[in-house]
Amino acid sequence: MKIYFHLNLEGFSNCYLVANTVTNEAIIIDPGKVTRQIIEHIEENNYKLVACLITHNHGSHARGLDTLRKIYTPKIYAADYEVAGADTNVLKDDGIIKAAGFTIGYMAVPGHSPDSMCYKIGRVIFTGDSLTAGRLGSTNNSYARQNLISNIQQKILSQQEDTVLMPGHGPLSCVNAEKHFNLDIGCPELNIPPVIGRNINEDPIPLNSPWRQSTGALRS
Ligand SMILES: [Fe+2]
Repeated sequence: MKIYFHLNLEGFSNCYLVANTVTNEAIIIDPGKVTRQIIEHIEENNYKLVACLITHNHGSHARGLDTLRKIYTPKIYAADYEVAGADTNVLKDDGIIKAAGFTIGYMAVPGHSPDSMCYKIGRVIFTGDSLTAGRLGSTNNSYARQNLISNIQQKILSQQEDTVLMPGHGPLSCVNAEKHFNLDIGCPELNIPPVIGRNINEDPIPLNSPWRQSTGALRS
């Protein structure tokens, strides 16, 4: 398996091309914008693009679908029918699909959006906007927040600790790092409580945190 990372400069969102180097088939995840570099990468490697996985139907993750479908005919997977209308293979809850010679696990993680999905291929989980390195995705209300935290704890942080997390924005992470250092879930090492029960708009790192004292960062 080879993963090609592409940064969409319009929404600073991450698009990933996952290739099976045995079958030369490929899957694209969150084509926020289909650029010349992405197409050149597919063509130069002679990949057959067989599937497109959408983590959620926000523009910076799905807007490139129209361009993509003018060039290729991938099967489109998403939790929201609106992504590609009748051409959407609508996913619900958790399950497994097969594409490009991979067995792909999908997990519904509503919270950031009602249609949020994470996809697991091998030891990598593509988390969309549900989780970025050190933080959770934005939510509209405290119910959605609580829902997101519980989904992430049950479905993502329960995975093997060396599972790599590839988010929809920002750098990569892994399950072990998020278990210990995610500011929104709470991290005992920094004396940070879980977000539930505290004001999510407040600075998550308390003044008496060992991290603040060791770094001298007493103000946020
Ligand atoms: Fe989003």
